[in-house]
Amino acid sequence: MAVPAAAPLPCSLLLVVCWVVAMGTAAGAKILPSPSNLNYSFIHICTLNWTWNPPENISSSCNLEYSSDIVINGVPEDRKKWGKNRFRVTDVHLNEEMHLRVRSECKNDTTSEPSPWVETSLLPKGIPGTAAVDLSCVWHNLEYMACTWRPGENASSDTNYSLFYWFDGLENPKKCSNYSVDQEIFECIFNLTFPKVTSNYPTISILIRDDSEEIRPVCASKNPTTLVKPATPRQLTLSKTNDRIDVKWSASETFPKNCLHYEVKWGNGDSDSVWISEINSVSIPGIDANSKYTFKVRAKPKRECYNSDFHSDWSEEKSIGEKRDSTIYVVLIITIPLVVAVSTIILLAYLKRLKILILPPIPDPREILKRMFGEQNEDSQSSAKYDPMNAFDRLIIEEEIHSLILTETSDSTNPEKENR
Ligand SMILES: *[C@@H]1O[C@H](CO)[C@@H](O)[C@H](O)[C@H]1NC(C)=O
Ligand SMILES: *[C@@H]1O[C@H](CO)[C@@H](O)[C@H](O)[C@H]1NC(C)=O
Ligand SMILES: *[C@@H]1O[C@H](CO)[C@@H](O)[C@H](O)[C@H]1NC(C)=O
Ligand SMILES: *[C@@H]1O[C@H](CO)[C@@H](O)[C@H](O)[C@H]1NC(C)=O
Ligand SMILES: *[C@@H]1O[C@H](CO)[C@@H](O)[C@H](O)[C@H]1NC(C)=O
Ligand SMILES: *[C@@H]1O[C@H](CO)[C@@H](O)[C@H](O)[C@H]1NC(C)=O
Repeated sequence: MAVPAAAPLPCSLLLVVCWVVAMGTAAGAKILPSPSNLNYSFIHICTLNWTWNPPENISSSCNLEYSSDIVINGVPEDRKKWGKNRFRVTDVHLNEEMHLRVRSECKNDTTSEPSPWVETSLLPKGIPGTAAVDLSCVWHNLEYMACTWRPGENASSDTNYSLFYWFDGLENPKKCSNYSVDQEIFECIFNLTFPKVTSNYPTISILIRDDSEEIRPVCASKNPTTLVKPATPRQLTLSKTNDRIDVKWSASETFPKNCLHYEVKWGNGDSDSVWISEINSVSIPGIDANSKYTFKVRAKPKRECYNSDFHSDWSEEKSIGEKRDSTIYVVLIITIPLVVAVSTIILLAYLKRLKILILPPIPDPREILKRMFGEQNEDSQSSAKYDPMNAFDRLIIEEEIHSLILTETSDSTNPEKENR
């Protein structure tokens, strides 16, 4: 990777050194000369090797060490280091201004003062606000890493960000090739597996940049053990024996033994419980035979193995048992007496009519006689009234009655004559 040289640096550095030397001689104090030729080079996509040369004319009595520190966006990081090495390796973020400063010191020598700091800087390239933001990565099932990010607010909407990654063990950085974009969220997925015996995973360096000079690159270091997310448990099976329910699911094929535990969430609708299981099964005692139980499981990495807060998604939900719905009981308790009451009333009313049909009221002979004659008169009259065939008969009867009345009236006058 090309290393941009800080062109004005040697001059300014020289000035500082000259000035310090002059001051030192003027005051008569023994101020050490500064290291020279401070420079840097990339050793990986997101890693710099800062190098410098030893100061000149250091007396052999001086136990020379170099003190170095990092300043980011003008703020000292307080990551001071002392040592005899003439280089320092640091991670870089590329989207911020980074300075490294170094000076020489004689250890355990009170007669000399540390040299002034010499400094060199790494300035961000591209336009401010175009670097990818909100980078986050998840290591799925120890199999593949999925990283997502959003475009910077000043980046054009068709920016083609590319993701590169590197870790100790890879000869060269690799370019991620499985991209997707959904609602301005970029995602790239790359395989990431290590031998099962490994317990120390290397830090993953991730660089997101664009081929265009305008897009500011950005680097991030990810510790994979903090990003572990297990796969969703599969093949959840339930079986019931007496008052126990046995729950089983498939064991992970990618995780080392004893590095996962499982959360079993189960309930019968009234209450939910969570059981933690160290193995891929659990047996739950004391269950209610008249309840329906629902189960789901998710996996969590164990702290002893991974420092990750992610857990798997919940498995599909499975249930066992028949639920006697209490609301049905309530409905039954209300409706049964209601139905009984209503049908009794209907039955009684019906029975009353039925009784009339089966057991007609005991006839009263007087009534019958009365009705027979009364009704016959009425009948003859009414029937005559309405039957045209009887019109002639009626006429005869009426004549007879009239003649009868006549004879009667003629007779009735006679007793008066007899009494006289
Ligand atoms: C820094 O190192 C690069 C090569 O890695 C070189 O081209 C450049 O001139 C050096 N800069 C200084 C100030 O020495
Ligand atoms: C950094 O550069 C120095 C000088 O070139 C070299 O001796 C050292 O091994 C480098 N460090 C790493 C970690 O590459
Ligand atoms: C270092 O010492 C030599 C000889 O003693 C002298 O010629 C030279 O100017 C000194 N260099 C500096 C930077 O003081
Ligand atoms: C985006 O660009 C504008 C104008 O150049 C600038 O003021 C702003 O700070 C940039 N946004 C970011 C996040 O840097
Ligand atoms: C991104 O890629 C697409 C398709 O390759 C291209 O049309 C577009 O111009 C690119 N965007 C930029 C900013 O280069
Ligand atoms: C890309 O990722 C998707 C989603 O995980 C996966 O289904 C697909 O197989 C991957 N393609 C390649 C070429 O790796």
